[in-house]
Amino acid sequence: MGKNIQPIVVTDSGAGGLFVLDKLVRAFPREKFVYFSDVGNMPYGNKSDERIRELCGMRVDFAKRKKGKLIVVACNTMSAVGREVFENGGVAVDFVLAADGLSESLSGTDGTSGVNRSGRVGCLSGGNRSIENRSHGKIALPAVVFCTAATRKSGVISRLSKQNGVVVYAERDLAREIEEHIFDLLSYKPRLAEGDRKNYKTVVLGCTHYALIRDKFAERFSGAVVIDGTEGLENRVRQAVSAADGGGKNERKNRGENGAKKRCRSGSEKGDGRKSKVRKGKGRVVFFGSGARKMRRAFFALFGREKL
Ligand code: DGL
Repeated sequence: MGKNIQPIVVTDSGAGGLFVLDKLVRAFPREKFVYFSDVGNMPYGNKSDERIRELCGMRVDFAKRKKGKLIVVACNTMSAVGREVFENGGVAVDFVLAADGLSESLSGTDGTSGVNRSGRVGCLSGGNRSIENRSHGKIALPAVVFCTAATRKSGVISRLSKQNGVVVYAERDLAREIEEHIFDLLSYKPRLAEGDRKNYKTVVLGCTHYALIRDKFAERFSGAVVIDGTEGLENRVRQAVSAADGGGKNERKNRGENGAKKRCRSGSEKGDGRKSKVRKGKGRVVFFGSGARKMRRAFFALFGREKL
């Protein structure tokens, strides 16, 4: 990792956040990235709020140690349950939460005309660090949301009800199964919740793992629009990076460079739970945490070496 460049820390329990990492690596060709996973403790979605908050604290500590410029929480469970841990982390690290996109997509479906409980338009992240993004309209109803149990009982989701045309399914095992099948997702046949025969117009994927099998949801709910709640994420990261870099230096540098060649090559691997460096030359993605080696392999397998 190049000197004097603070990395963007992207984190999930496991592989769900890899598609966010892929988006960001392509969108920000001059940034360095650290992916932090905790496969040994996943699934997070079945844990208590208290435990999830502890695991969020682990991210704040990690980002501090790595001198990260930004934490991108590519996990709806952590961002729905542990928002205040990131807000109160006491580090000079801003954060962007996956659940912002989810909340934004769902704003208005609780009868609040697009304004959520905090009075802000579709933005979960409160306080002066939050970045609003108004680019998403109300979703088409009836809609079905799939998410983890912890996300379901969080404020992001709990206010939604059937009466308003939104059905929510908490999936206890889906994220874990996706993680287990990460190298054979093509042949994996998920068992989606019963009662899903309705003619839904929108399917909302409220767990980043589910985005890895987006095509299976699309197949199952043909005719529905499938959204993963991360559509506004790139903009929020761009603004946060710009703020972290002191007002737009990197934003200017990055503009117009989307799609530029990524540099992310194989390097030393020391096994799960230890860092797995992807460095050769100016390599700019490094994997840390439990399952780091698996995450690195999955990243290449899912998103293709030829793109890097
Ligand atoms: N991918 C995560 C999410 O977006 C968590 C999955 C899990 O560990 O349960 O909720």
